[in-house]
Amino acid sequence: MSQSEPTDRSRPLAGRVAVVTGGNSGIGKAIVLALARDGADVVIDFVAHPEATEELERQVHALGDRAVGVEADVSRIEGLRQLVSTAVDRFGRLDVYVNNAGVETRTSVLDTTVEEYERVMDINLKSAFFGTQVAARQMIAQGDGGRIVNVTSVHEDWPMPGNTAYCLSKGGMRMLTRTAGVELAEHGINVVGVGPGAVATPINRSTMDDPAKMAVLDAAIPLGRMAEPEEIADVVAFLAGPGASYLTATTIMADGGLIQSSPGL
Ligand code: BGC
Repeated sequence: MSQSEPTDRSRPLAGRVAVVTGGNSGIGKAIVLALARDGADVVIDFVAHPEATEELERQVHALGDRAVGVEADVSRIEGLRQLVSTAVDRFGRLDVYVNNAGVETRTSVLDTTVEEYERVMDINLKSAFFGTQVAARQMIAQGDGGRIVNVTSVHEDWPMPGNTAYCLSKGGMRMLTRTAGVELAEHGINVVGVGPGAVATPINRSTMDDPAKMAVLDAAIPLGRMAEPEEIADVVAFLAGPGASYLTATTIMADGGLIQSSPGL
């Protein structure tokens, strides 16, 4: 479907095709379901738990859309190409590409190993850079624009001592969003970031399992609680849809006000 055709308000992404990296758990899973709810067919990238991907495919089918899981390592260009070619081969095109896959090591500049550094940078930043490249080339070939959404973090801008490589990778994604957004604008491709604060997902398991840490975190968030993954996914779905046509080269913080009020955790 061309980007300029009118849309059904209840299914604003009908006829659109999306790829979500890191799509079978946490925020990624919620993004897959939000895009499908809004009418998109979805390629679900994953690296573990094929059974979770199969269950998610069933949930997408129940919403009336198509979904296919692809086991692909996003830190390798071949994996990224496989995601885009699957979208085109199975569903005919690519309209929305979500760079969501992410990991963190919770290590400081003093104790991060080369292996930890490379893993975080490869999965978070290199995958987003080359994912953007591979997706944008396909969108340009189609000739009618597209959307690239980078799931970053409040830590694209806000230091998190003890999570240094992660902050670097998210800071890089911030500049990727801004720079690629400017470069790709002439092709009608909007590049936007979403910066979650603390979200109830596996990446925050150790905090969620510790009532004392949770109390400190909740107190630091003006809205008083962590986000549910669906609250981040709804922002991504909006950014993929017709209402966000004039947003590009910027990040929307979805953090309950965290960075406005807190000097750091
Ligand atoms: C990190 C979490 C952290 C949250 C708020 C997220 O990007 O993944 O570990 O709790 O930011 O600081």
